Amino acid sequence: MGSSKRFYRDLWRESASRIGAKIEEIGSDFQCITRNDLHTFVQMDKVMLDSNLTLRLAGNKPLTHQLLETIEGYRAPRYLEFRFSQLDDALKFLSDSTQACVVKPASGTGGGSGVTTGIDSKQKLINATILARKFCSNIVIEEEVKGHSYRLLFLNSDLIHAVRRDPPEVRGDGRSSIKQLMEIETSNRLTGNTPRALSPLLIDMECKNTLNAQNLSPNYVPKKDESIKVKQVVNQNCSRESHSVTDQVHPETITLAQNIIRIMGCELAGIDIITTDIGQPLHATGGIIGEVNTTPGLHHHYLLADKSPHEQGVCETILEYIFKKKRS
Ligand SMILES: Nc1ncnc2c1ncn2[C@@H]1O[C@H](COP(=O)(O)OP(=O)(O)O)[C@@H](O)[C@H]1O
Ligand SMILES: [Mg+2]
Repeated sequence: MGSSKRFYRDLWRESASRIGAKIEEIGSDFQCITRNDLHTFVQMDKVMLDSNLTLRLAGNKPLTHQLLETIEGYRAPRYLEFRFSQLDDALKFLSDSTQACVVKPASGTGGGSGVTTGIDSKQKLINATILARKFCSNIVIEEEVKGHSYRLLFLNSDLIHAVRRDPPEVRGDGRSSIKQLMEIETSNRLTGNTPRALSPLLIDMECKNTLNAQNLSPNYVPKKDESIKVKQVVNQNCSRESHSVTDQVHPETITLAQNIIRIMGCELAGIDIITTDIGQPLHATGGIIGEVNTTPGLHHHYLLADKSPHEQGVCETILEYIFKKKRS
């Protein structure tokens, strides 16, 4: 059994037991959770909330920017949706930009797949577009926003947990190259008893661009204890690089997120925010809502550097919500 499957199986077992529910594995990674005369199914990070249409709406990044732009006081990043045949339009967008850009598939993806930051030349734009096109024929180019990446998890419009996800790094041992350190990190994180992350740390274009911006290559051998950022895209980071920030989110950012959740009609949503300071409103920092994730990964709220044992886990909160909803 893969580490993701094992992680979620154990997480749901523990969460069900904490809320006094029974749990049964019924095959194909489905688990049936029963309390009194009510039951619900889960499958890894999937729970029985939100329709397929909500998922497809939120999963469409240009549409999300468009809907966000209807909210007064919010400024979406400059962006353009294009197809490969319209590459000239994307080149024009890039040359009109005062900063580097990000290229990504327009919809139906997640986990940072096909997302490349640091686009500042025609060649990088072409390479990133070819990669993004493997995931979706519609592509987005948008301006890169400075700041940290945050994931805010909302359930029924309440903020239930927030995480700052720092970019993945490797730390030198004085002998191994960045490439080897990344391979070691991948094998450690996927084979350990308590996983540090559920995804491998892969060398790809995003990694090469990030290293290139630091005048480094995957063959560079970092000094002992030297830390090197290997990606700007945070999705492949590990628990060391994820920090709880639930109490630090500015109330105006919570209200903004609640607004887009209401517009899209999501029940469980992971809102990705990029800002230099989560304690200030986005208009004060130039921060953005990067995307709205329905069926958000729940492990981001457990694989943390600084776990608070007193906090109720998000899976318990979600189960309590589902059972309460069924009862009413
Ligand atoms: N405009 C941007 N500016 C800076 N970083 C970005 C931008 N867009 C994406 N990123 C980085 O890439 C990650 C993945 O992009 P995202 O749009 O969330 O795609 P996915 O759906 O694959 O998670 C983000 O969490 C963030 O770290
Ligand atoms: Mg994301």
